[in-house]
Amino acid sequence: MSDAPLLSVEHLDVTFHVRPRNAWPWTPPLKLSAVSDMSFTLGMGETLGVVGESGSGKSTLARAIVGTIPATGGKVMWQGQDLLALAPAARRRHRRDVQMIFQDPLAALNPRMTVGQIIAEPLITHAPDTPKAEVKARVGEMMERVGLLPNLVNRYPHEFSGGQCQRIGIARALILKPKLVICDEPVSALDVSVQAQVVNLLKDIQKDMGLSMIFIAHDLSVVKHISDRIAVMYLGRLMELAPSRPLIRTPRHPYTQALIASVPIPDPKIEAQRQRQVIEGDLPSPLAPPSGCVFRTRCPIARPECAAERPGPQAADAGHVYYCPYASAADAKAQLTP
Ligand SMILES: Nc1ncnc2c1ncn2[C@@H]1O[C@H](COP(=O)(O)OP(=O)(O)O)[C@@H](O)[C@H]1O
Ligand code: SF4
Ligand SMILES: [Mg+2]
Repeated sequence: MSDAPLLSVEHLDVTFHVRPRNAWPWTPPLKLSAVSDMSFTLGMGETLGVVGESGSGKSTLARAIVGTIPATGGKVMWQGQDLLALAPAARRRHRRDVQMIFQDPLAALNPRMTVGQIIAEPLITHAPDTPKAEVKARVGEMMERVGLLPNLVNRYPHEFSGGQCQRIGIARALILKPKLVICDEPVSALDVSVQAQVVNLLKDIQKDMGLSMIFIAHDLSVVKHISDRIAVMYLGRLMELAPSRPLIRTPRHPYTQALIASVPIPDPKIEAQRQRQVIEGDLPSPLAPPSGCVFRTRCPIARPECAAERPGPQAADAGHVYYCPYASAADAKAQLTP
């Protein structure tokens, strides 16, 4: 195999054409840039956290990597090959090797199928000749691995709690022994008490199986424990990308700083002393994004120049890039969470 990273996203653009409600039939559709000029790589066994508010393009990015939406610009490279140019056999392998776990666990499971059928389905689809006994054994093994009793195999999804349904979704995603699992807000719909259990389970499985993982969330506190590196997105653009520790301890981009400042600290003394820079206002419409830096309408340190040009990447320490020429380490320190 080549030395290429498992996944390389290169200047990826995904644009949708949308027709506003109440528009005349002859009105041309508007362009909605859901992901724009997004670049990063992912190595074998690495976990990348992706955070950003709702509407920042996280799910679209995931779908472009899985291959269910085509890139409209740039490339998704899978093991050194352009996803859109894969030969049919390589495309089938990619479909097996990249699996997803979704936000709403119950909605993601077919209510008319038993748990055993749900977990076995990808295996039967991709390897229809697998002997029944092996399918059964693999389903049992997966159920045990995700903490479900194998004797629940004939039950239906509605008989399970949200956390258990998510475990079923995880077992289903893992049965083909994928190389990459993309978790799209896997704990956002779960009770807080269950969230940590599911995150810890994913973390254990990722280590045991040497999986690569993309873990999407709108909340930084969810991704920081599981991610080796974190990418921060805003309105379809990458704002900052860094190994987790420097991203949390010395964030450079004002948006990352605001995200960190909005995470409450459980210690009331520290919480009272904190300098907060909470982000105000709503995400602008992706149909009419601000010119220049898309964050400028909510940025506390915006200046007139920010409207003119889209900021290029700035490098901090190794592997730490951010897209704001005016952010300084001093700003970052002022925002630091202890
Ligand atoms: N199939 C689609 N057609 C048109 N617009 C879409 C489609 N999917 C997503 N969008 C738009 O793209 C933007 C990014 O959406 P999404 O990727 O779901 O963000 P996130 O997952 O961060 O909440 C949003 O403005 C959303 O409305
Ligand atoms: S480029 Fe300007 S608007 Fe954008 S984050 Fe930096 S200071 Fe703020
Ligand atoms: Mg989403």
